[in-house]
Amino acid sequence: MADSSRRDFMGKVFGGWAALGGLGALYAAKKTWDPLPSVKAAGFTKVDLSAAEPNVLNVEKWRGKPIFILKKTPEMVAKQSEEETARDVVVGKDHFLVCIGLCTHLGCIPAYRPDRHDFKCACHGGEFDVSGINTLPPPPSPMVIPPFKIEGTTIVLGEEGPEYKKMKEAGVIA
Ligand code: FES
Repeated sequence: MADSSRRDFMGKVFGGWAALGGLGALYAAKKTWDPLPSVKAAGFTKVDLSAAEPNVLNVEKWRGKPIFILKKTPEMVAKQSEEETARDVVVGKDHFLVCIGLCTHLGCIPAYRPDRHDFKCACHGGEFDVSGINTLPPPPSPMVIPPFKIEGTTIVLGEEGPEYKKMKEAGVIA
């Protein structure tokens, strides 16, 4: 094979791999961002949590904002601090992170890193743990927990239920 055609061939091979890699990343992002079954009406979003898989980020929409819903694995729950556990939405035996998926620095949408169990904000490098607590500046505060109410295995976003009020009283929600 002449040098130039060899380069062409290698270019195609690497180009093909890069395209495949890109598709893989897109598929992974889509898979990670699949929403759960939900119903939206008059400022409320009802999301059925029973279909949630552990360590898979689900992104719902509530009043135009992205809402992160993440079911934690038992290992994640076992290792977390009291401060982190206080932010958990507990449904039966399952612990969930539920928060508005906007960085508290300048409002970018942080990305979940399932292998590290944390969130990275690409805008200025801020990080949050799996409970939405800021761990690396510049974000000045944790991601915000939206008003919610639990009805069986469903979470109603936009309504202040007893669990939300309890978090408020405990000072978990500013
Ligand atoms: S907007 Fe997230 S770190 Fe700046």
